[in-house]
Amino acid sequence: MGKKSPSSTKGKNRKDPAPVSGKNSAETGKECKRIFWCTSECTPYAKSGGLADVSASLPAALAERGHEITIIMPYYNWKMNKLSLHYNGGMFTLEVPFAEEKFYCRVRKLELEKNLTYCFIEYDRFFDRPALYDYQGNEFEDNAERFIFFSRACMELIRYLGKKADILHLNDWHTALCAAYLKSPLYRNEEVFKECKSILTLHNVGYQGNFSKEKFAYTGLPWEFFRYDALEYYDRMNFLKGGIALAHEVNTVSPTYAKEILSAEYGCGLESTLQYCNQCGRLRGILNGIDVKEWDPANDKALPVSYSAENMAGKEKAKEALAKYFHISCKGKKGRKLPLFGVISRLAAQKGLDVFADVLEELLPVMEARFILIGAGDPHLEWRYCSLAERFPEKFACYIGMAEEKLAHLLEAGCDFFVMPSRYEPCGLNQMYSMRYGTLPIVRSTGGLADTVKNYDKNDPSASTGFVFYDLTIQGLRDTVIWAEKTYSDSFEDILQMRKTAMNTDFSWDHTAQQYEEMYSDAYK
Ligand code: ADP
Ligand code: GLC
Repeated sequence: MGKKSPSSTKGKNRKDPAPVSGKNSAETGKECKRIFWCTSECTPYAKSGGLADVSASLPAALAERGHEITIIMPYYNWKMNKLSLHYNGGMFTLEVPFAEEKFYCRVRKLELEKNLTYCFIEYDRFFDRPALYDYQGNEFEDNAERFIFFSRACMELIRYLGKKADILHLNDWHTALCAAYLKSPLYRNEEVFKECKSILTLHNVGYQGNFSKEKFAYTGLPWEFFRYDALEYYDRMNFLKGGIALAHEVNTVSPTYAKEILSAEYGCGLESTLQYCNQCGRLRGILNGIDVKEWDPANDKALPVSYSAENMAGKEKAKEALAKYFHISCKGKKGRKLPLFGVISRLAAQKGLDVFADVLEELLPVMEARFILIGAGDPHLEWRYCSLAERFPEKFACYIGMAEEKLAHLLEAGCDFFVMPSRYEPCGLNQMYSMRYGTLPIVRSTGGLADTVKNYDKNDPSASTGFVFYDLTIQGLRDTVIWAEKTYSDSFEDILQMRKTAMNTDFSWDHTAQQYEEMYSDAYK
């Protein structure tokens, strides 16, 4: 699959005939499906986190396996206009009912690859903003309206396109409402939706789209959908709950997270809805993959020198370039090589980076190692990290904001260790990106981190890929950072072994795309 950078669309106005829904793919022997992937973000067009990366790479993997994919997402004019994309599929106006009114939006169609089309919904009143969901940690007040409108636009667009939909693949709360629409009298008898099944992928149960019931009328749904077994949640309207209750199949993005969310600790108030969904056999966990072509140290333009598990010399060059970018030196007393620890993350409570800031307060005055952080989100945490950088400029540097992709790549490559002390982590992509670049993750054992990182075993470093701790406490994280630092200085040969194992681990979508196909088939059972 080609790289999905905006420039890669040039000269690629491919108009191959769409495969007919229900035919067998010669390559895979599987039944090919017409899948509409509805998402609020997708790399490289608009991104706040991993949902964007998965929305780019999983549909692409499914298209490669013969399915016909249409990705529907909002057009964030403020950001996307700058990309100057050529909409080779054309543009047209779509009428979208909203409460008693009708809104008119523009659809921009981009036919990127064979079987892979993007439809961007342009409606500036809701989406022409410098951020996707919030401003400096405060949610936009009209988020309910924005995503009711977007979900309704997805349904209207599919109806307008007029091709029979097999799967409506919904992602997180932003589009979960489509599961209700599909079952409602508004759409269930439409020809294009007659055999359609909905899938809801839970990338993060911590964000639910929980709004006042006053706004329910905007949906246009009958009040029977405002019930305990649909969208109602403690007399409010909860999009994610509605999606879990009404989608034909539901999945999380790692097996461990699928179990964790059944408990009050991780279910964020939706544990009983999730337990019921699980009892009905509609809940499963499918581990995310990563785009191994986009994230490939052997072929990455963001790196000064490429490298691989066989020839790791380029990793040192990446470390030098990264340190130079952040104006720090990784040479210690007597020319000692110092380990470099890195983070790139949303600064949200989920990520446990408040505890990391506490750990740095303790370690920076006494430890020689170097630390780098790229992050944005909670203003208080942003301030704490800036303050650390001011007080310890030789040892710690940070970049506050959303960095360009190439800096993110350089960070994954140039660090020795990648820190992810998450309170919870539905999957996490960064630990997989870092392992792919031979950077060993330091993780708390939760969700996808527990499913992907193998803890360091002194007796078997070649079966280890990182450092794992269990309790999110200052002591737990601090001791693990010290443990990694000691291993780097005293047993560097183990680090080299672990890097090799990490780099040779297969995190591609090959296995997991198949599990999605199984889920699509199960939705029909
Ligand atoms: P989450 O989706 O919870 O944020 P993931 O690990 O799944 O966590 O994915 C995070 C993605 O967002 C990665 O691609 C990461 O590089 C990127 N990212 C997070 N914060 C930033 C930032 N400040 N600048 C650039 N990229 C970021
Ligand atoms: C969410 C989760 C993250 C996951 C990503 C992609 O944002 O927080 O763990 O990797 O979605 O599925």
